[in-house]
Amino acid sequence: MILKNAKIYSEGLLHKGAILIANDIIKTVIFNPQEKNLKKLAKKNQDHKEIDCQNKLILPGIIDIHSHLRDMDQSEKETFLTGTKAAAFSGITTVFNMPNTKPPAITTEQIKLWMKKAENNIYVDVGFIAGVPKGFDEEEIKNIVNLGILGFKIYPLNSLNEINWKDSSNLQKLFNISSKFHTPIFIHASYPLSELEKEQIDQEFNLENFSILEYHNRLDPVKAEEKYVKYVIENYIKYVNGKPLDPKDYPIIHFCHVSCIDSYLTIKKAQTSNKDLKISFEVTPHHLLLSNTILLSNDNFGKVLPPLRKDNHSRFLFNELKEGSINLIGTDHAPHTLDEKSQKYSEAPSGFPGFETYPLLILYKVFKFQLPLENFVRAASENPAEIFSLKNKGFIREGYDADLLIVDKIPEYIINPHNFKTKAKYTPFEKFSTTVYIWKVFLRGIEINVDNSIPNGKIIRRML
Ligand code: DOR
Ligand code: ZN
Ligand code: ZN
Repeated sequence: MILKNAKIYSEGLLHKGAILIANDIIKTVIFNPQEKNLKKLAKKNQDHKEIDCQNKLILPGIIDIHSHLRDMDQSEKETFLTGTKAAAFSGITTVFNMPNTKPPAITTEQIKLWMKKAENNIYVDVGFIAGVPKGFDEEEIKNIVNLGILGFKIYPLNSLNEINWKDSSNLQKLFNISSKFHTPIFIHASYPLSELEKEQIDQEFNLENFSILEYHNRLDPVKAEEKYVKYVIENYIKYVNGKPLDPKDYPIIHFCHVSCIDSYLTIKKAQTSNKDLKISFEVTPHHLLLSNTILLSNDNFGKVLPPLRKDNHSRFLFNELKEGSINLIGTDHAPHTLDEKSQKYSEAPSGFPGFETYPLLILYKVFKFQLPLENFVRAASENPAEIFSLKNKGFIREGYDADLLIVDKIPEYIINPHNFKTKAKYTPFEKFSTTVYIWKVFLRGIEINVDNSIPNGKIIRRML
């Protein structure tokens, strides 16, 4: 197949050109082609299929390094089919799936079941992140790593495995695993508040009468996030300084959904203090674009962990993205049913769908010249592939997987969650508009944003 008359994003620049796709991969890319070069390309095109892109923009498929696809005992919230369909229709061609599932993905047996369930049920490629098995069982850890998981995730607020993540000896054990197996550790950074601190916030809430989203923010405050980030980094530095370690064997740590100035600056400081440290972080579209003063038809649509913060944080983070200082975006797509979200605040779960708003809203910033295209492509596609060693992904390059997204600019329209493919048909981006139109999305050269597509996604495995 040939995609012709396109504007192709490649290595930081836009070129007019054409792409030949054969056997799942980008076979040839030609820029500013003359007629004779196009004819030559057409001769090589075995299926003779050509798509005239009418000067639309071709980008590498988006890689979302943070999502919750649910399925199994939470299929009412989302399934592999519905979640990955939502991704496919949004231009997201690879996703990482988190382990706080039901049952939790903390044993070899469970993870094998999850992977089996995903086979033939995913419209995009999916990589699995595991929880740490109970008691740090060495044999189990080795077996889990051998399944090709992309990393381990820890939740200090809600441990999946009864391991106390406030105990630094457990962090040291975790770093040992990461160092030994070269496996990334994904961290949900939040230092749990004490019961007393929570009671105090409840009292303030009763007296001062602030909004639900402000209350939620105080229950999981900026200082708790920063405290856990600091705590992990201190332990990390202690670990790498504590033994003669080749930098190639340094543990790999990744902070999920950084939501505030404080933890951002703490991570940046560590990163610049020593270039050998393997520390990365992501920011979500909602922490880049929303604050806890948004007005919603239902406050629980904005209930998420980490909470939405005051708008100085989101404005600061968006500006850092604009300046090219934020390497990774992850949606934290975390669907819950509308019924669950319609309960009172204390009962409603945190999280909301994120796949279908992400490219529409962040690329809209690009279309409005508020974000350089290259910073978007770096954070959305190139860096995820490089930082997490995803072979042949993230770039429009010959020999790479033909995972592509073709976008167009159309008259402004309001995003309507009723049209979402996810089961969770609501969003905190109520009444947000965009001019971004996702025209076509390809996974290994097959169009996936069409209703009759086949779930051809593959499980991607970390192989080092
Ligand atoms: O808001 C959230 N929802 N934060 C998390 O860390 C988990 C997620 C979920 O799984 O629902
Ligand atoms: Zn999290
Ligand atoms: Zn999450």
